[in-house]
Amino acid sequence: MQFISFKNYEQLSAYTADHIVNAIKSKPDLVLCMASGSTPSLTCDLLVEKLKDEHADYSKFTFIGLDEWVGLPPANSGSCHYFFKTKVFEPLQLRPSQYHLFDATSNDLKKECERMDQFIDEKGGIDIMIVGIGMNGHIGFNEPGTSFSLLSHVADLDETTKSVGQKYFNGPVELDKGITIGFSHLMNTKKVFLLANGRHKAEVVKKAIEGPVTEDFPASIMQKHKNGFVVTDEEAASLLK
Ligand code: GLP
Repeated sequence: MQFISFKNYEQLSAYTADHIVNAIKSKPDLVLCMASGSTPSLTCDLLVEKLKDEHADYSKFTFIGLDEWVGLPPANSGSCHYFFKTKVFEPLQLRPSQYHLFDATSNDLKKECERMDQFIDEKGGIDIMIVGIGMNGHIGFNEPGTSFSLLSHVADLDETTKSVGQKYFNGPVELDKGITIGFSHLMNTKKVFLLANGRHKAEVVKKAIEGPVTEDFPASIMQKHKNGFVVTDEEAASLLK
């Protein structure tokens, strides 16, 4: 695992977006998997801007959504689907065959997980994964205590995730479960970037990088990834030794 720190959120986001754009230029059929949320928000905006400005051919790349709140339809403005639809798919006018997200309204979520695992397999694996870190150290909805060996799965959300997650919605919403890509996929991904910014993430970044590798603190798995990068701003790095 490598650690990269930038002065601020803008620089962190520009670096990540540049990396993805260059990767698409050298491998047009790149498979990108991303988390939604506050952290990768500017990366998404810059990715769209740079792909257009640089006239990159993004007609062959594939986008995979990392996770979704169970029960939420894509039309809900707090859903991960809505985030990517408005920030990436529509601005880039991607064809529906170019992206794959969990249908969290399905009444067969096990099948939804199998569909995702199969899609990843058919694509030959994920090239780049961009993830964030939750206030309890989760990645996607791989909550504390989740096995490092899981494929896609449904998770019971812990209390921190349920309360922090309220920030994505206009009013209080009942959040109970999440559907997510698991760590078996993360470990098989060629390159993984964990992004974190802001003072509020300093504690969890420290635990992820300097703490023990344990399923009790999911983001610590980054220490085991051969091509894993933790990318932060100065504030999120402020507690590191
Ligand atoms: C959410 C999502 C994660 C996300 C994380 C951090 O609950 N399940 O995929 O990366 O928490 O979110 P944020 O970037 O908004 O801090």
